[in-house]
Amino acid sequence: MTDTPEKKRILTGITTTGIPHLGNYVGSIRPAILSAKQALANGDGDAFFFLADYHGIIKCFDPDEIHRSTRAIAATWLACGLDLEQVTFYRQSDIPEIPELAWILNCNCAKGLMNRAHAYKAMVDINQEKEDTDPDFGISMGLFSYPVLMSADILMFNATHVPVGKDQIQHIEMARDMAGTFNFKYKPLFTLPNAVVDEDTPLLTGLDGRKMSKSYGNTIPLFGDGNPQIDPEKALKKAIAQIVTNSQAPEEPKDPESCNIFEIYKAFATADEIKALADKYRAGIGWGEAKDILFHKINDEIAPMRQRYLDLMNNPKELEEILQQGAIKARRVASKQLDKTRRAIGIRPLAKLK
Ligand code: TRP
Repeated sequence: MTDTPEKKRILTGITTTGIPHLGNYVGSIRPAILSAKQALANGDGDAFFFLADYHGIIKCFDPDEIHRSTRAIAATWLACGLDLEQVTFYRQSDIPEIPELAWILNCNCAKGLMNRAHAYKAMVDINQEKEDTDPDFGISMGLFSYPVLMSADILMFNATHVPVGKDQIQHIEMARDMAGTFNFKYKPLFTLPNAVVDEDTPLLTGLDGRKMSKSYGNTIPLFGDGNPQIDPEKALKKAIAQIVTNSQAPEEPKDPESCNIFEIYKAFATADEIKALADKYRAGIGWGEAKDILFHKINDEIAPMRQRYLDLMNNPKELEEILQQGAIKARRVASKQLDKTRRAIGIRPLAKLK
């Protein structure tokens, strides 16, 4: 069972920092939920989605932010149609087997492999450009061994397909590497996972024309910013009004392909609708009208999910119960796999006690 078996097991983690925005929805939430639905409809697999809170604490040291974000992300994924009958949905920190496996993998992972991780190398490069700065300044062991924890997340469940962004491909390669090393050294227990990078998944541009990202502060909220005082529909409208456009007059013909309003529209509209809007651009459209069309298109898709999101946000007990149920399901798989792993490395009872 070392190479990809026939059944698909889709697994992905969501780091618990920030409040989900439109870019997260289009780039990961919507396609992940869709891929789980398809795998199940075809009868050829299952899916595991989890909140990666032990990854969250690598870069975020604000306990309130970790907690708030965990709640908002859980509510968002459920509101967006994640089906609990079909997907095992859990919180990483509820599965103690994961950090245990991470330790075992740490002991079987060359330090040199981690030295080559892009994210770590980028930080070392920044330090080296400065004078009198240690190359490892500001780098914790958590950050350094991040790919090992991520490998444990994946190998624990023998995932075959791991949907990720391009920046995560190297981590999946590392997970394959670790699985291969373990399988060869001890026993073939781990499936080699494959990264699934959907080239068609749009990368949304933010309000200011740069990539939409929390770190640039240029995002469009999905269900509001987590503040119950703010009406989420108004927040969406307001954010769209803030999209930066050029100073072309309304009647001037415009190039749809160089416009971020159009780009975001493409992530929500059908081929016919996209063509219709492109024709309008070429005929001359005012930015106010284009923004209005965009607002309605997005709102039509997300408005039906908004109420479920707000209900869950106002009912953390329900969320907690859902996560505990998920943890029970996930641990059934994890405890078996960890037990096999421990036995394979020589950690097992000395004798059977009656
Ligand atoms: N590192 C991933 C990210 O930042 C999140 C993550 C943690 C993950 N563990 C995972 C993704 C396991 C896929 C599989 O996006």
